[in-house]
Amino acid sequence: FKQKTAYEIMPSLVGSEMCIRDRMETVFTIGNGYLGTRGTFEEGYPGDLQATLVHGLYDDAPLVHTELVNAPDWLPIELFVAGERFSLVEGQVLDYERWLDLRRGVLGRRVRWRSPKGRTVEIFVERFASLADEHVLAIRCRVRALDFEGQVELRAGLNGDVKNPSPFGPVRHWQLVGQGDLGPQACFLHVRTAGTGMELAEAMRLEVEGAEASYSPRGDEWRPAVAARFRLGRGKEATAVKLVSVYTSREAEDPARAAREKLEEAASKGYRALRAKHEAEWARYWQASDVVIEGDDEAQLAVRFNLYHILIAAPRHDERVSIPAKTLSGFGYRGHIFWDTDIFILPFLTYTQPHLARNLLLYRYHTLPGARKKAREAGYRGAMYAWESALTGEEVTPRWGYGPKGEIVRIWCGDLQQHISADVAYAVWQYWQVTGDDEFFADYGAEMLLETAAFWESRVEYNAQRGRYEIKGVIGPDEYHEHVDNNAFTNRMARWNLEAALKALAWLREFHPRRASELAEGLDLSEERLAHWADIAARMYVPYDPETGLIEQFDGFFELEDVNLEDYGPRHRSMEAVLGLEKIRRCQVLKQPDVLMLLYLLGDEYDERTKRANWDYYEPRTDHTYGSSVGPAIHAIMGCEVGDLEAAYEHFMRAALVDLRDPRGNTADGIHAASAGGVWQAVAFGFAGLKPTPQGLITRPRLPPGWRRLRFKVIYRGKPLEIDVGGS
Ligand code: BGC
Repeated sequence: FKQKTAYEIMPSLVGSEMCIRDRMETVFTIGNGYLGTRGTFEEGYPGDLQATLVHGLYDDAPLVHTELVNAPDWLPIELFVAGERFSLVEGQVLDYERWLDLRRGVLGRRVRWRSPKGRTVEIFVERFASLADEHVLAIRCRVRALDFEGQVELRAGLNGDVKNPSPFGPVRHWQLVGQGDLGPQACFLHVRTAGTGMELAEAMRLEVEGAEASYSPRGDEWRPAVAARFRLGRGKEATAVKLVSVYTSREAEDPARAAREKLEEAASKGYRALRAKHEAEWARYWQASDVVIEGDDEAQLAVRFNLYHILIAAPRHDERVSIPAKTLSGFGYRGHIFWDTDIFILPFLTYTQPHLARNLLLYRYHTLPGARKKAREAGYRGAMYAWESALTGEEVTPRWGYGPKGEIVRIWCGDLQQHISADVAYAVWQYWQVTGDDEFFADYGAEMLLETAAFWESRVEYNAQRGRYEIKGVIGPDEYHEHVDNNAFTNRMARWNLEAALKALAWLREFHPRRASELAEGLDLSEERLAHWADIAARMYVPYDPETGLIEQFDGFFELEDVNLEDYGPRHRSMEAVLGLEKIRRCQVLKQPDVLMLLYLLGDEYDERTKRANWDYYEPRTDHTYGSSVGPAIHAIMGCEVGDLEAAYEHFMRAALVDLRDPRGNTADGIHAASAGGVWQAVAFGFAGLKPTPQGLITRPRLPPGWRRLRFKVIYRGKPLEIDVGGS
């Protein structure tokens, strides 16, 4: 992915809006499943939203509560050309190009720059976070003196003086544990979070090739650095390599020592070898996960871009962390984990990188204690997963936030968006069905299904008058409506959860009887109770009108004021902002698919007529452009389902380009990870019509006009398969 001119990349510095630069920082994020680093520049500019976010590195602080901490910046490199500091805002940019090599996971930049005093240099910088060794980061900077002869100085450092942005002002999380030199060419920084006491250490080394360099330490407090000086003849070039290692106390007892040792190891291998290993690892991932679209270059690039961002965010060696809603590419949602991971991101990994999907599901397993605690405290049994989750699985959704007009509002999602428990169960089940990983299911998966079922058991209310079970006072997927009764999605998914739990137990009893009795005993699952689960599932109320085929989103939805969204276009704000919080609750306007989400997840349970009727009803009432970004990919799939390919493609591109084009204006906050995962689902389950059936995987292709061919791979029950669909 390329940006060709300095103007495009640095508009804030040449007179346009600041936010465009911020969004490109998100777009140009690199990462390796351990950390993500936004695409700010090595030389640094005022207003940079610089960030490196490391999985699991959460801190608590007053007002902002739990958030992923901005780790010390490992990028800084200042370049002095005969005493003049390189900066894109001084002198003249003669030529400029920056690119993110999605295939190799390398961010590059080439600049021809004339200094204010008229010396011209060509600079070529590239960086990567090694996918082969997640503790290793590298930057290579080549400098060529085009029309002068003179001294060049490079100062490379680590910067611990970093903060997290927040609505209340910047938050400093770090305390300094230590810093210093490691000989003339290397230095280190060791810090600790103030609240949670987690430690992080970075070590770095600078090495110049192609010129005789002298090195000296050049650090300030919080900012250890090394300077290298060398002379360049006219037309000559030299290359500096900055290697950085990172460890936290989550992986190493003594992170400073681990970082030092890793740095030595990396230095002994050298940049070229490190990069070759990194590239080989990327090749392996793309080999299994790539999607090839012939006939639509924009869609092709956008799809790969989205997959790249999931691949850099998925933890490789850590099953106690998960992918935050904005990946590790921005501060939005403070690094919290939502259903975005289970429902939107996971299928891509379940089908193409099952070992990564497994890690993410194990995160849900390890956070069961937090989910049990949440259930207990709310007066329920079993496990009630957090709507927003961090390291422990305890609820971290903020209780208060800002409304569309800047007003303070109570956020109810953490209390009421309870479908998350069924969503986690669904992801577990889907993983098991697709991979056939019985060991995972017996050891971990089944327990999650049983615990979440136990939650629903205690959550439902029996309506004796109508002889049915109901769930009152929730928020469904559509967050424009709160405190609703009998949300079809929640009720139906709860029923599904109970049924799946019963099946899981039956399977365990047959194939893993010891584990079955262990769980039944531990969770106190008497025969009576299990019969009660079956009864709830059988008599759970799920709204449905057999005459029209319509499913009412929740009790009373159809009586709300009907609004024609077309009367409000073109808009630049969400319908929530246009109508206000009070009014939107009284209108039939959706933030995102809710009934359609259900018809997608449990598609086999509903016939075509029902899908069509509800598509016709709900699709036009949904705020596609400024509601939730998780919606368009799902609408793309449902569009395919009902044969509305034109709408499907429009929704698909809306999802695929949400960060590359930034129509919502919030890419600066981080990549829309759920949308990115949804894009793969739209390709696989929508356009290719991929579907597991008892007879195996089938496809039902319906390619958008212009797509000549669509190819991707999946692994189904351990067997690698290639899907290859020809278009019209
Ligand atoms: C959406 C949720 C989503 C969350 C995080 C919200 O705006 O309504 O469905 O989980 O963002 O992406």
